[in-house]
Amino acid sequence: MIKLLHAEKNGLRGVMTVPGDKSISHRALMFGAIADGVTEIENFLTSDDVLHTMGVFKNLGVEIWHEGTNVRITGQGINHFVKPEKPLDMGNSGTSTRLLMGLLSRLPFDMQLIGDQSLSKRPMKRVRQPLALMGAKISLSENETLPGTIHANDHLSGITYDMPIASAQVKSAILLAGMQAEGETKIIEKIASRDHTERMLRQFGGEITSKNGVITVSKQPKLIGQKISVPSDISSAAFFIVAGLITPNSKLTIKNVGINPTRDGVLQLLKRMGAEILITEITTSGEPLADITVHAQNLNGINITSRDIPSAVDELPIIALAATQATGDTVITGAEELRVKETDRIATVISELTKIGADIDALPDGMIIHGGTPLRVPEESALLDSHGDHRIGMMNAIAALITAGDVVLTGEDAISVSYPGFLEDLSRVMV
Ligand code: S3P
Repeated sequence: MIKLLHAEKNGLRGVMTVPGDKSISHRALMFGAIADGVTEIENFLTSDDVLHTMGVFKNLGVEIWHEGTNVRITGQGINHFVKPEKPLDMGNSGTSTRLLMGLLSRLPFDMQLIGDQSLSKRPMKRVRQPLALMGAKISLSENETLPGTIHANDHLSGITYDMPIASAQVKSAILLAGMQAEGETKIIEKIASRDHTERMLRQFGGEITSKNGVITVSKQPKLIGQKISVPSDISSAAFFIVAGLITPNSKLTIKNVGINPTRDGVLQLLKRMGAEILITEITTSGEPLADITVHAQNLNGINITSRDIPSAVDELPIIALAATQATGDTVITGAEELRVKETDRIATVISELTKIGADIDALPDGMIIHGGTPLRVPEESALLDSHGDHRIGMMNAIAALITAGDVVLTGEDAISVSYPGFLEDLSRVMV
């Protein structure tokens, strides 16, 4: 349990960096592990989720060296993976579980999959089902959740799959299996979800096409180890972007942030809310990067609908906090996926922000945030809870900056799932 900081009257100021991107760090490990030769990763995110993916590959006999934000993988190809001695522990990580269900679905031995309490409640049928159509043999517990087993299997066939939900995890699981299948795999996406898997496959020398919402992959040539530089995570930067916008007198620059167009929804939505955000693009050969500068300013409520969700899905809690300070209502719909994240984020956003004076109505697939509510603790102090969800923990810490009265946070340990050092970085930009 910790007491959260309240911003001083000069606001938040400074130039900072946030850690490496979680989605890209997971994928760099996966491709490094199945490629031939050495893969070197810099600005790797050493957070709990990504360390669980690393643990899985070590368990499968892959040689991985790791110090600070540098990783070296000596890959020998997926055929050199060995039968793990222990269950593969996914911790809290949905990305590890779903992507690895696809990647490991054509190996000659059984693997048990386990996860923590929250992960063991999250839906896995969305991945098991398309993989089963390809020939994968995956069993889950009765309600289609972890624990589960990926059974030995020596054959996968390509499928054409019309995505029933916008999910990069489901898409990536199918692509990672499709890379090992006989025949073509085609995925049809109505709204583009994050495309880091596709980009990284190409970077490792693989072949994949993406045209008019159809992604096509088949058996791959040998993938070759690469040097990967991971951009800073826009999902982590989002907490500081919103902090800079809503905390009076602030001016913050966040450097080297990944602004892949399938991930930059938070910037587009905040701009629609009227925010002036300075985005200075940096030329690179890999994922697009930019320095982002924000200052405190007034925002307006907007309508956020299903087509806005995939590129901002992880940022909706912090956008909801921004909306409490905007003029007018913000209506979020088409966001039913929030109900099956690390927590039911419609319920946890509302439960926490209303404790400090926000006015938010729940919808089955979103929420209506009534703007212009000053945040204040009702009595002597408010006790906020992360509910074991990293992004809810960080949203609470940003809310506390502008809340009158003492705010205490419980369950702050969850923040290390994606951003170890978040509270220290926050205290560094307080003046
Ligand atoms: C992720 C995809 C998203 C996102 C998660 C990371 C990924 O999940 O919420 O934090 O790395 O592919 P869904 O694909 O289930 O929406």
